[in-house]
Amino acid sequence: MEEWERWERRVQTAAHPVVYRLLTAVAARGPVVRVPGVGVVVSDARTAREVLTDTEAFTKTGPGAAAQLWTPVLGARTLITLDGADHAALRRRLSGLFTPAQVGAVCERGLREPLAGATRRLAAGDEVDLVPVVRAGAGAVIRELVGLPPDAAAGFAEASAVLAGVRLWRASLTGRQTARARAALARLSEAAVAAYRSGDESTVPGRLRGLGLSEAEARGAVGMFLLTGTETLVSFVPRLIALAHDVGRGPDRITDAVVEEALRVTSPTPVMLRSAARNGRLAGVRVRAGDRVVVAGLLCTRSAGPFAPDSPARAPLNRLWFGAGPHFCLGMPLAMAEIATVLTALRPFPALTVTTRHPARGVLIPSYTTLAVRATPPAKSPRASGAPGPAVAPDRT
Ligand code: HEM
Repeated sequence: MEEWERWERRVQTAAHPVVYRLLTAVAARGPVVRVPGVGVVVSDARTAREVLTDTEAFTKTGPGAAAQLWTPVLGARTLITLDGADHAALRRRLSGLFTPAQVGAVCERGLREPLAGATRRLAAGDEVDLVPVVRAGAGAVIRELVGLPPDAAAGFAEASAVLAGVRLWRASLTGRQTARARAALARLSEAAVAAYRSGDESTVPGRLRGLGLSEAEARGAVGMFLLTGTETLVSFVPRLIALAHDVGRGPDRITDAVVEEALRVTSPTPVMLRSAARNGRLAGVRVRAGDRVVVAGLLCTRSAGPFAPDSPARAPLNRLWFGAGPHFCLGMPLAMAEIATVLTALRPFPALTVTTRHPARGVLIPSYTTLAVRATPPAKSPRASGAPGPAVAPDRT
């Protein structure tokens, strides 16, 4: 097993020790497998797309799907707890927050400070843990996106902790998780609700009101963006740097194709949950109305081959790691802009050594809890001298 694969495996098994092994074993049995107590597990890209695009047959709002998990916390009026015409109407309104100009501005404002601190320390030869840097940056970006004040950071940490504690197979949150998440969200959205009520369109909540969102929808948007837009990046960006490191690439050699390939093999949202609305068949397997359908995104995208940054997998996955159909990731432009901003900041450090790393244990979204790096002076880059060998020093852990 190659270095990148060993570490990625550790990241997956630390997050989901039982489930990861179970899913891998299930995938070996076929593209669609019924697993008692879990649901109908899909591990093939074509079938996954079929499920995700047929929203009449496979809903997000039926038993065992995402809405059951999140409605008690976020309310019923969010993108991840709605389907059909209501979902489409809300999505159209919210898409105004993701124009290129808007995305560029929130990225720049949110990431500037955490990245400046990190690059200053790298330039001084210090060790820098990239996980808290990305967490601070991604949190600040979401605060900018929804117009929350900087002192909302504590509430973010609390809400993130609730998210981390959700188990992959749970159909609903525990009473304690729901109460904690609701309290954190209520504190977080206080300022947003005040701005919404004032209707001041120089603020984001005021603009959401102008876009036609109800107060409940604006409040739900705060929680939803927090839920979808922070841990995914905290998971992906350090894993991207680690993957590149493990195949001998520094940040200066992380091209767009490498980013796409890393998204494919990490697939930060490991599963997408749906509920069958009617009886039918999926790849020959019988599905009954009310069945939970677990689209194992990671297995679908991984099956296209190992991490190959120089010859990325050619299977037509169409960015399945961001979903498919009407619920395709709304934040993709923001995520890609954030990744690009971090890489731009790190490019002046072509020789980054990963000095310490620890996969996070028992979390929902597989990630590192620590990924410490140090810039080693690139005396003479192997590419410049034509010499073979890695552009980064080997891992010492
Ligand atoms: C690398 C980072 C990210 C990945 C891999 C990712 C992945 C995904 C996936 C797979 C879905 C579909 C879920 C499903 O169909 O059940 C989704 C939906 C969504 N994502 Fe992302 N996401 C990322 C970053 C973000 C960011 C930064 C935001 C910003 C706020 C965001 C906002 C959303 C929203 C709002 C939805 C729900 C869309 C809908 O239901 O219409 N995501 N994401």
